[in-house]
Amino acid sequence: MTVPLTIALPKGKILSRALSLLEQAGIDTGEVAGDGSRRLIFSSRDGLVRYVLAKDSDVPVYVEQGAADVGIVGQDVIEEMDRDVYEPLQLGLGYWRLVVAGPVNVDHKPMRMWPTVRVATKYPRLARQYFVSQGLAVELIPLHGSIELAPILGLADLIVDVVETGRTLQENGLVEWETIMACQACLIVNRASHKMRLAEITHLIEALSRVIAQQNSDKGPVAGDAGPPILSSFPEEKNGASSINE
Ligand code: PRP
Repeated sequence: MTVPLTIALPKGKILSRALSLLEQAGIDTGEVAGDGSRRLIFSSRDGLVRYVLAKDSDVPVYVEQGAADVGIVGQDVIEEMDRDVYEPLQLGLGYWRLVVAGPVNVDHKPMRMWPTVRVATKYPRLARQYFVSQGLAVELIPLHGSIELAPILGLADLIVDVVETGRTLQENGLVEWETIMACQACLIVNRASHKMRLAEITHLIEALSRVIAQQNSDKGPVAGDAGPPILSSFPEEKNGASSINE
């Protein structure tokens, strides 16, 4: 019996982009998120892949622990979670930045002159690293979402958060002050799976790489032009590292 390759996907805004990339690479995504249901586990129609939908910050945890063989998640999350996984491929899927942002009506003067600086963020590790590198002691206020609320409600002076279009900052009276890092989505791979399921994972990386290269070279439409389903030729795997495979 074929043991499916388990791919962890983030439930956030890059999910639809990741599914599109996988489909373009010839990897069937079945009915993932297509039926409006609350299901969190889906199988490809050919049974070769199992998809699990996780909170983005949990994707590196599932992959490190072998609950998923591979995952797709943003570099911001990978760096924040600091898990022991391979990162073999940058996928694009949009480009965003981790930034320091503050209220539009506050002078952007050197923060070291402020008596205290309270910073709300979903990224306490990266925020701390950044402010330490700047020689600034700040009080971090960890939150889990809608970070832009914190300065509006007086909970924090600044935020460290990701910005893509800039719309959320703008519509909440905030402006970008400093860029901490540029981000895109990456493929991450469990270290044991990389050894045990090398052929499958190599095929997956190669299939995705071909689509990305094609997109980057801007040589025309990619959809439907990625060749036959790559995973269909994968060898049967009986000793995979996925501990939760049926
Ligand atoms: C992220 C981020 C910003 C927003 C930025 O939030 O935390 O709020 O996207 O995107 P923009 O620059 O295109 O407006 P997400 O949608 O992941 O929700 P969350 O705030 O609840 O985590």
